[in-house]
Amino acid sequence: MSSVDFNPSKNILVSGGARGIGRALSRMFLEAGHRVFIFDYDEDELEYTKTVHLVQYYKDEKVESALCNLRDLNDIRSKVPVAAKFFNNRIDVLVNNGSIASPYWKDGKTMEDPATLDEWQAYIETNLTAPFAMSQACLPYMKARISDSEAGAHLIQGAGPCIINIGSFRAHQSDPNQEGYAASKAGQLGLTHSMAVSLGRLGIRVNLIAPGRIKVAHESKAGDEDGTDWEGQVSQKDVDDHPTNRAGRPKDVADAALYLIEAGFVTGQDMTVDGGALRKKN
Ligand SMILES: NC(=O)c1ccc[n+]([C@@H]2O[C@H](COP(=O)([O-])OP(=O)(O)OC[C@H]3O[C@@H](n4cnc5c(N)ncnc54)[C@H](O)[C@@H]3O)[C@@H](O)[C@H]2O)c1
Repeated sequence: MSSVDFNPSKNILVSGGARGIGRALSRMFLEAGHRVFIFDYDEDELEYTKTVHLVQYYKDEKVESALCNLRDLNDIRSKVPVAAKFFNNRIDVLVNNGSIASPYWKDGKTMEDPATLDEWQAYIETNLTAPFAMSQACLPYMKARISDSEAGAHLIQGAGPCIINIGSFRAHQSDPNQEGYAASKAGQLGLTHSMAVSLGRLGIRVNLIAPGRIKVAHESKAGDEDGTDWEGQVSQKDVDDHPTNRAGRPKDVADAALYLIEAGFVTGQDMTVDGGALRKKN
C-alpha cells in the first residue's frame, strides 16, 4: 500500500468568526498550525479581527475572511468558492459556528406575541438552514477524492475531512421564552446525525459541540479595547451551577473542536461542553 501525503495543517472555514467563540476558535486553530478562513456579516468586527487581532497570521497568509450573511443563500454560495480558492480548492474542516446566540425573544417578549414569528424565522434561517446550506456549498471541496482512497486514505490518514456544528445545551434544557433558539439548536442535532450518516460515503465526519455557558465578552474589539478579561465575567452563580466550579472559556470549545478534527472514528456525535451543568440538579 502506498503512503498518503498527509498534511497535518488543515484548511478550516469558520462561520461567525469575527467575535466570541468563533474568534477564539479561529485563533486557536491558527496557533495549532492550521489555516483559517472566516465568514461573518459584522464588517467592523471582522476587519478588526483579521487585521489587528490576528495580524501576524494575516501577514503570513494563514488567515483570510469574507463578509457573508448566513441568512442569504446566494451570499453563502458565492463566498464559499472564495474561501476554497484561498485553500487551493480543499476545505478540510467546516465549523458552523455563526448563530443568533442570544437565547431569549427580544425585549422580554413571550410567544403570546405574534411578533415573535419574525424572530423565529431569523433563528431557524441563521442557526439551522445556514449550517445545512454552508455544508452543502462546501461538499465539492471536502469530499474524499478517488485518488485518496486508492492510496488507502481510509486506512492511513485516519481523520479525514469533517464538519462541526456548534449547537447549544439549550437543545436539551430551557428557561422561559427561548422557543426559537431552543428549536433551532435542537434541529441541529437531527441535522448532525443525518448528515453524518449521509456523508460517510464521501469520507466526511459530522459532529456537534453543544457549549454550556461560555463567557465571550473578552473575545471582541470592545473587549480588547476595554481590557475585559474572562475572570471578571464569572459570577458566583456560575461557580454554583457547574460541577467544574466555573463558567466555560472559549478554549473549552476549541479543545473539543481540535479533538474532533483528529477523531477519525467519531461521527454523528453530540459532545456537550457545559462543565457538567446539565447533569446537576439545582
Ligand atoms: N456563549 C455561550 O454561552 C454559548 C452557549 C451555547 C451555545 N453557543 C453557541 O456558540 C456559537 C457562538 O456563540 P457566541 O457566544 O460566540 O456568539 P456571538 O454573538 O459572540 O458571536 C456570533 C458571531 O456570529 C455572527 N453572526 C450572527 N449572525 C450572522 C449572520 N446572519 N451572518 C454572518 N454572521 C453572523 C456574529 O456577527 C458574531 O460574530 C453560537 O452558535 C451559539 O449559539 C454559545
